[in-house]
Amino acid sequence: MRIVLVGPPGAGKGTQAAYLAKNLSIPHISTGDLFRANISQGTALGKQAKAYMDAGNLVPDEVTIAMAKDRMEQPDAQGGFLLDGFPRNVSQAEALDEMLKAESMKLDAVLDLEVPEDEVVKRIAGRRVCRNESSHVFHVTYAPPKQEGVCDTCGGELYQRDDDREETVRKRLEVYHTQTEPIIDYYRSQGLVVTIAALGKVEEVTERAMSALRGDRAA
Ligand code: AP5
Repeated sequence: MRIVLVGPPGAGKGTQAAYLAKNLSIPHISTGDLFRANISQGTALGKQAKAYMDAGNLVPDEVTIAMAKDRMEQPDAQGGFLLDGFPRNVSQAEALDEMLKAESMKLDAVLDLEVPEDEVVKRIAGRRVCRNESSHVFHVTYAPPKQEGVCDTCGGELYQRDDDREETVRKRLEVYHTQTEPIIDYYRSQGLVVTIAALGKVEEVTERAMSALRGDRAA
């Protein structure tokens, strides 16, 4: 399957993507995680992306699209993928359509996670991420690590993301509404959008997402 995951910052895209990718046996491709890996490795791409991320803005399309394309061309993504954080505006969505069309491929679904704004703010404020691997995500209240400040999965140090400061979060939400939400209508016109309520326990949301992707009526 080829799936795009969309939802506001803090909606739980990364959290759900980890379970959905495992259930569906497809790689989880997060452009945010790819940028953060480049930042921690000190690459030129990471240096370029950091200023945009810290300000809550989108990294320019040409850089982002090239990075996403390169990742989608890796051998593990040939049988499908779960995209998290890409595309993030209509021009990225059009670029993705072109890429897929060139390979005679198409998307199967766009999974839209719906979460009220006051809840995403709480989720972001309490999020803690592993320094070794930014897909290892915790929450001080909702998903606390066994030992404070230490990643359960690999023992890495947990920290608060630079772009999780309150003023940056406000900017990220504004960017989501103005630039990312329009892709939902773009994909709705292609009949691809499945919207689920992403409130409740993580495993309940995963079950709802799996039902929606299977096309169950009750989803
Ligand atoms: P990115 O890393 O993609 O951030 P985001 O979209 O803002 O999403 P988040 O990572 O903040 O949240 P999430 O939805 O994954 O939530 P999570 O699962 O962590 O992008 C960061 C930046 O990179 C962008 O601002 C931009 O600058 C740049 N960028 C990335 N892609 C780009 C692109 N395509 N183009 C241009 N620029 C790009 O969950 C949040 C918290 O809630 C966690 O603590 C978790 O434990 C908790 N939680 C999750 N689910 C639940 C639940 N059901 N109940 C209670 N708590 C929960």
